[in-house]
Amino acid sequence: SRYLDGIMIRTFRQSDVEELAQYGSIPIINGLTDFCHPCQVLADLQTVREHKGTLNVNMCYIGDGNNMANSLIVGFLKVGAHVSIACPEAYQPDAQILEFVKQYPGQFFITDKPLEAAKDADVILTDVWTSMGQEEERIAREKAFAGYQVNAELLSVAHEGCMVQHCLPAHREEEITTEVFEAHANEIFDEAENRMHTIKAVMAATLA
Ligand code: NVA
Repeated sequence: SRYLDGIMIRTFRQSDVEELAQYGSIPIINGLTDFCHPCQVLADLQTVREHKGTLNVNMCYIGDGNNMANSLIVGFLKVGAHVSIACPEAYQPDAQILEFVKQYPGQFFITDKPLEAAKDADVILTDVWTSMGQEEERIAREKAFAGYQVNAELLSVAHEGCMVQHCLPAHREEEITTEVFEAHANEIFDEAENRMHTIKAVMAATLA
């Protein structure tokens, strides 16, 4: 803490970040854990607002109830969006998050049916089926997530002009088709660029 103005930590265990914050006397920024990915969601929110002009949107997340799902749920609920999630029953968001959503009655919907979650969506987000550190589960995960792909059929039930976002790197033809990725590449690369702008804002807010 005496050497630095702040630390951004990207790791696996959430408790490592919390321990650092507990003992450090400088700002500790969570750059990703297995539990959550809050900085990514700031970029996602900025990109949706840039493209849609509002955050009062129907947000849909398809796939693994992982760190991205956890943070997207919290971030989008907090700004007033409607959130619907489709994930297999064995891969639901963290229990703490499912408790958190109870503060937002009528704003949160969870299902294991992607087409139900994507209905009337203004923005659809997804993430890889196998996250960093889960490589050994890859084959089982490919099976479990087989029906959870962002593809043309899914987009056909969303609102016209529905955006697609991906935190990258994407695994084409797994969680997203090449066709959908390419059609929405501009939005996805705006999202990637906005990681830079939003982290500058986080630094200004915490280190200035
Ligand atoms: N769920 C992914 C997010 C990568 C930005 C992972 O943890 O690997």
